[in-house]
Amino acid sequence: MKVDVKLSPLAAEARTHLDATVIVVDVLRASTTIITALANGARNVVPVLTPDEAATLKLRYDSANVLLGGERGGVKIQGFDLGNSPLEYTEETVSGKTIVFTSTNGTEAIGKTTSAQTVLIGAYLNLEAVARFAVELGKDVIIMCAGNQGSFALEDAACAGAFCMAISRLTSVEESDSARAARMIASSFDTVIDTFHASAHGRNLVNLGFSEDLEYCARFNTTDVIPEYYNGHLIIRQKKSH
Ligand code: MLT
Repeated sequence: MKVDVKLSPLAAEARTHLDATVIVVDVLRASTTIITALANGARNVVPVLTPDEAATLKLRYDSANVLLGGERGGVKIQGFDLGNSPLEYTEETVSGKTIVFTSTNGTEAIGKTTSAQTVLIGAYLNLEAVARFAVELGKDVIIMCAGNQGSFALEDAACAGAFCMAISRLTSVEESDSARAARMIASSFDTVIDTFHASAHGRNLVNLGFSEDLEYCARFNTTDVIPEYYNGHLIIRQKKSH
């Protein structure tokens, strides 16, 4: 199985991942938030590129069951119900709801993957479950880092490296140079929290008062929930169909 890491969405050519399993990683915080929302019973998450698109889409749904979530500059968008802190996406708040969601980098990265056959959302919270499932699917794997406005983001590269390690523990892999580099980054930090604190976005979130989010995003394997992007929606992948 080939494993490649796209260190930013700009590095990803749509045509290269037609037949691959793509794992989108925006560990701080969009992918962690999406996983949390679905684990806490959200019906689905609908990723969109802009706040205006989110507001327009809400009008098309039964608005009592729709919440608008997401951020710009790390903070909740004016008029939205929720920001991008995974800690806001409690069962009490999101159970049974559709979340129309937009974030600076995460939803844009998801938007780049529409040609891929299988698109999964990964973070430390569901690392083992996603790695195992990708291996079960038996296709080549592309780990797509959301990065930061088209640039490299240390925290996503390190999380991608952790995925490479998890996958290579389960099967024999042929890694690209960027996959090897991601793995080296992951293994050069003692803890995930250290990685977050070394990253520009991690430090920015601390300055915005979201230290607790960093602690939460650093947790390993707390859930088996695997969000899959399907028909414009993120839903929980039902493994029994395979
Ligand atoms: C993003 O999509 O850029 C991030 O999830 C931003 C954030 O942490 O709020």
